[in-house]
Amino acid sequence: MIDLHSHILPQIDDGAKSIDISLEMARIAVNDGTKIIACTPHIRPPTYDNNDKIIQSSINALRRRLKEENIDLKLVMGADIHINPNVLERLQNKSAPTLYGTKYFLFEPPHHILPPNIDRFCEQVMQAGYIPVLTHPERLTWIENHYDVMVKMDEMGVAVQLTAGSITGRFGERAKYWSDKFLAEGRVDIIASDAHDPKHRPPKMSGARDYIAKFCDDETARRLTLDNPLLILKNQDLPAKKRTKSIKKTQKSVFRSVIDRLKG
Ligand SMILES: [Fe+2]
Repeated sequence: MIDLHSHILPQIDDGAKSIDISLEMARIAVNDGTKIIACTPHIRPPTYDNNDKIIQSSINALRRRLKEENIDLKLVMGADIHINPNVLERLQNKSAPTLYGTKYFLFEPPHHILPPNIDRFCEQVMQAGYIPVLTHPERLTWIENHYDVMVKMDEMGVAVQLTAGSITGRFGERAKYWSDKFLAEGRVDIIASDAHDPKHRPPKMSGARDYIAKFCDDETARRLTLDNPLLILKNQDLPAKKRTKSIKKTQKSVFRSVIDRLKG
């Protein structure tokens, strides 16, 4: 598997608190079947004022330690870029890194407020040649009242990343409800761990992959955890999504039980 969203770099944001914790996370990822992980610390000034140089030197240091410890995990560079008026300029001057230098970048909207003109922002960066990868829409609280905005972004070509833990229920019923809905409607391009630590938010994706194999099918599970992340790293276009409004019979019972529990 290829995990394109993690906070594995030490002491650079709210992720790994030390290099030993980064190494522990790397071991967990490898044992779970991940071969490549993107190091994507927050860029959210002034709280997390990261840039390409800071991220690159932290990756270099972690890479050296992985080699010393014989941990077979390939690191690629990226960032979890918070919406901000300077984003386009920073992508263009490369101080905010895209994923592995490609046209794709992780785009993190605020959790509790729908930013006005979020679709206009996506349009502008796409016109400039970039593809935003919308991170964890299923966990944003404003999705409840603005699912139409998610649909609009998906349909204009924004890539969609769900968090593995949402799919397996780690983030609660609501995140699970929305991730099931995205999966059932065929709106997902990749899943990622968005790992922050070894215990509560570990770099694991296999549980979500296995769930998707049952909830959708094996081909989708492979596409979201390997084929599409690889296309992104090769800077190639993602395949057209097979969107559907009708939920399969087998999905209906899972979906129904979540809705019932939410209502109850
Ligand atoms: Fe993140």
